[in-house]
Amino acid sequence: MNQDSECIIIFDTTLRDGEQCPGATLNMDEKLAIAKQLARLGVDVIEAGFAFASPGDFEAVNIIAQTVGTVDGPTICSLARARKEDIKAAADAIAPAVKGRIHTFIATSDIHLQYKLQKTRNEVIAIAEEMVAYAKTFTKDVEFSPEDAGRSDPEFLYQILEKVIEAGATTVNIPDTVGYTTPLEFGALIKGISNNVPNINQAIISVHGHNDLGLAVANFLEAVKNGARQLECTINGIGERAGNAALEELVMALYVRKQYFNPFLGRSADSEKPLTNVDTRQIYKTSRLVSNLTGLLVQPNKAIVGTNAFAHESGIHQDGVLKNKLTYEIMDAQSIGLTDNQIVLGKHSGRNAFRTRLGELGYELKDNELNKAFVRFKDVADKKKEISDWDLEAIVNDEIQQA
Ligand code: KIV
Ligand code: ZN
Repeated sequence: MNQDSECIIIFDTTLRDGEQCPGATLNMDEKLAIAKQLARLGVDVIEAGFAFASPGDFEAVNIIAQTVGTVDGPTICSLARARKEDIKAAADAIAPAVKGRIHTFIATSDIHLQYKLQKTRNEVIAIAEEMVAYAKTFTKDVEFSPEDAGRSDPEFLYQILEKVIEAGATTVNIPDTVGYTTPLEFGALIKGISNNVPNINQAIISVHGHNDLGLAVANFLEAVKNGARQLECTINGIGERAGNAALEELVMALYVRKQYFNPFLGRSADSEKPLTNVDTRQIYKTSRLVSNLTGLLVQPNKAIVGTNAFAHESGIHQDGVLKNKLTYEIMDAQSIGLTDNQIVLGKHSGRNAFRTRLGELGYELKDNELNKAFVRFKDVADKKKEISDWDLEAIVNDEIQQA
C-alpha cells in the first residue's frame, strides 16, 4: 500500500493504553464522552479498549462502536492478544462499527520469548500467522504488533512481518514497548523494515512508543521520515509508566513543520495539503476533557497544552511578543483552540458566558450540575474580582465530586 500521497493516520489509544495508566480508570459515560470528542478532533482510529480484558472493557468498545463508529466516524479498534478467545471478543465488540479493526499482538524480543512466552521464534511466527488469519475471518482491517519490537532482532522482525502480511495484516505496528530506542535507531529500524520485508507495500507501517526516556515523539518523527504512516498516541501522553507518545505534540510538530515533513511523504515542500486529518482547534478542549475525567493533571510546562505553553514571563519576551508574536511564538494559541480570552469572568457574568468557558475547558455539564456550579461560581465571584480557569476547574470538580 503506497501511502506517500496520503495523510498520516492518527491512531488514538487514550482509551486503551492511556487508560492503563495507574489511577486513570474511566467509567462508561466518561469513555463515551472522550470517544465522541476524539471523533470531533478528527482522529482516524480509536483504540477503544481491550475487549477480552473485562466485561466493562467489552461493553465500552461495543458502545463506542455503536455510537461513534458511524459512516463518517473513525475506525473503532479493539486490542487482542494472539489468542482465539481474545480475537473473538474483539470481533464481537467492534461488530457494530461501520469500520472495525482487530489489533492483535505477540512479543518478539528474545527476553520476552525466553521469560514470558517460553516459546521459540518459529512457534511465535506460527501463532502470529494463524491468529492474523483468524482475525481476518471477522474483518478485513487487521493490525499486527510484534510487542517489544524496539528490543527485537530486526532479522526476526522482517520474517514475522512478511508472514503476517501474507496472512492478511493490513497494518504492521512497530512498538517500542519499553521506550528504549533513540530517534536515529528507531528511524533505522523503520527503514530496515521498509527495505527488507518483501511484501511491505501491502501494509501500512505504524509506530507505537513509550516515553521512558522522554523520546517517544522524537522517535515517531524519525519513523515518519523513514516510511511510517500511522502514529499510535494518546492525549496528554498518558499511558503505562512514563506514558505514550503525546498526540498533541506529534500533530502540532507535523502542523508547524509541514514544509520540513512534506518531502518525506513524496510531496513538494510547499504543498498545502494537511499532514493529518486532525482539527487542531479541538486539541486544547480534548486535553482538558481527558485531564478532567482521568484526574491526571497536565504539567504546567507541558508542550502545546500546558498552562504555560503560551505564557511569556520575562520582560524581554513580553516586549517582543507585544511588538510581533512571531518573535517568541512558533504557533498561534488559536490553532489549538485557545481563544484570546476576551471574556473575563466575574460577579456580573451570566450563565451563558459561564457555560461557554466551561465548554472551552472541556466540561460538558448536565443542567442540574451547571445550576449548582453556577451558584457556587457567584459565591466565589463575590469574594474575588476575576475568576481564573483554575478557580473554575476547582468549582466544577467540587460540584462533580459532591454529586
Ligand atoms: O506497548 C506496547 O507494546 C503495546 C502493544 C500492545 C501494542 O501497547
Ligand atoms: Zn503500549
